Amino acid sequence: MRTVESLYRSVDELDFTLEELKSVALPGRVLVTSPEFYDIQYVINRHMTDHVGGVDYARAFSEWHGLKEAYERIGIQVHVIEGKPGLPDMVFCANQTLPFYRPDDNRKGVILSEMHAKERRREVDYFKEYFVARGYEALSLSGDVSVTFEGMGDALWHSGRYLLWGGFGFRTTAEAYSEISDTLGLPICLLELRDPDFYHLDTCLSILDESTALICTSAFQPEGLALIRSLFSRVLEAPEKEARSGFACNAHCPDRRHVLIQEGCDETKKMLIQADFVPIELDTSEYMKSGGSVFCMKQMFW
Ligand code: ARG
Repeated sequence: MRTVESLYRSVDELDFTLEELKSVALPGRVLVTSPEFYDIQYVINRHMTDHVGGVDYARAFSEWHGLKEAYERIGIQVHVIEGKPGLPDMVFCANQTLPFYRPDDNRKGVILSEMHAKERRREVDYFKEYFVARGYEALSLSGDVSVTFEGMGDALWHSGRYLLWGGFGFRTTAEAYSEISDTLGLPICLLELRDPDFYHLDTCLSILDESTALICTSAFQPEGLALIRSLFSRVLEAPEKEARSGFACNAHCPDRRHVLIQEGCDETKKMLIQADFVPIELDTSEYMKSGGSVFCMKQMFW
């Protein structure tokens, strides 16, 4: 198997095929943050506008339990990190780390985020502590203050391969990916984000299995779209409305089969069924007010 360590911004730069990349087992565990301190106290993305102070806590609590139980029902091990007072966004635990598994030497660890949102910076230490206490390596980026990185909000694993998809433009800077590519020794395909409704890559791209991606086409630039189309043989395009206000592309497929998705994304659901996936509809509406749905509310790790 080849080792490729670089960044790819367009199709003509690609010098590997998926089959040439190392395979990686799917991560079997999911981490969620308990929701007792979830709230909307500030506005750091467009979805949060008008929702400060507007969380229905009882609903948020039951939606969170619904998500946790959905993972348990399909046989995914669920782990819980305690939410902390004063960190109302900690519940979006895709963002503080990028868990990794290195196929070369079986090292397991996390890359710690450098949050763009200053309101969220204190969250990262709690995740560092969590993973270190369980024997994972925790790696930091170089510390260059101009480099920001929001974990798996922007960096998505290609299902089953040692390849990352890296969104940049709002929360994460492209420079973060040079460091990550060097540290982990892997290729990263970069996707520029310019539409503020899709401020994290996980709001417009959901990688369902090795050959299938669910996307919101209008969120991408032509170069990025071409990259997606060249590395996924099947690209499902969610209707723009379902992606923009229903977070259809913030769906999560943890096992190449079940797709946990916000309820009401009816067209997307039909596409998923036609493509032989099993959608599991969940209500995450209290979290959508803050700009996140299923994918944002959990972290997969090995
Ligand atoms: N309110 C949070 C923020 O703006 C939402 C994060 C959503 N997470 C995600 N992975 N898209 O940071």
